[in-house]
Amino acid sequence: MRRWFAPGRVNIIGEHTDYNDGFVLPVALSLGVVCAAGPRADGLVRVSSAQRPGEVVEIGLDDLVAHRDRVPGWARYPLGVVHEFVRRGLPVGGVSLDLDGNVPIGAGLSSSAALCCAVTLALRDLHAPELGERAMIEMAAAAENWYAGVPTGLLDQSASMLCTAGHALFLDMRAVTASTELDHRVAEQIPFDPATHGLALLVADTGHPHDLADGAYARRRAQCESAAAALGVAALRDAGLGDLARLTEETLRRRATHVVTENARVVAVADRLRAAADPRSIGPLLTASHDSLRDDFEVSAPALDLAVSAAVDAGAYGARLIGGGFGGSVLALVDSTAVERTSARIIDRFAVAGLAAPRVFTVEPAAGARRLE
Ligand code: GLA
Repeated sequence: MRRWFAPGRVNIIGEHTDYNDGFVLPVALSLGVVCAAGPRADGLVRVSSAQRPGEVVEIGLDDLVAHRDRVPGWARYPLGVVHEFVRRGLPVGGVSLDLDGNVPIGAGLSSSAALCCAVTLALRDLHAPELGERAMIEMAAAAENWYAGVPTGLLDQSASMLCTAGHALFLDMRAVTASTELDHRVAEQIPFDPATHGLALLVADTGHPHDLADGAYARRRAQCESAAAALGVAALRDAGLGDLARLTEETLRRRATHVVTENARVVAVADRLRAAADPRSIGPLLTASHDSLRDDFEVSAPALDLAVSAAVDAGAYGARLIGGGFGGSVLALVDSTAVERTSARIIDRFAVAGLAAPRVFTVEPAAGARRLE
């Protein structure tokens, strides 16, 4: 069996912009999922996970749809990828997939995208070498959306597939969606190495799982589409601040305000990093993103707000919730020398509030999906 790896991601800025044809700026984590894969002669798909000892799933290629509801939730993601190959008429055969991951689950760090991307890359190399990155991103996302039933955008899979070490990835999601191939004009790698500036990216996993499957994510997406329709634009990416007063329905106006201002913040952060400015200067934009996600998009949660304010009180240059929201993790930009102090402050504040201790760790912009050997 050969092995493939795909990472989770942290989005520096650009939340809920991906499905509005907007801008995102993720980095890949060194945490991810390893998929050991090899063809099988018996035509079955066999899936196992080091995190689910004893729960091996074996299923025929023709039974993937009919038996979907009988397989455990974790196995639906890799099987969803296999199904995506079958559905597209790609020549996938029997295959064994042994999975092992270390991205915290439900932490908003894209553990499921890492899983789906690792499996997609493995099946591409084994069965369909002609598939390009653009198609793989779409297939990994389709597998996840179909099985988990959440209409997410392409941010997480693009980050997992395309990020490179020492860089943030600037993506114009409209260009990604419209392209058949992803070259440097669509996927721009901007050098970003906080450590060389004496900085660290601190992640606090609040332990409050973010569950996007309860409909709140889908509702936000539908509200964005309604707002775009009311403004007469193809997507909120095409709206400007001056247009928003035309939205008479207050909820739609607030949702649109988040998307329009967030896109502007992503562009501003990308500009500063491109100009090799001191990354400390992006801090206020990160915190403004959090405020907007909390007040206008209404996807924050008390534990996320608490972690952000504790980090900022401890001297972080900026902090924000990352990913879809409702729970999960917070990102803070801090001096390398302040990592301990900031972590302690966040943990303290959780204790005072009677909440379980969050898991706090640092991350560095790492490499995207690849074959390991
Ligand atoms: C989740 C989704 C992404 C994106 C983010 C919010 O991570 O999977 O497509 O919409 O939420 O930015």
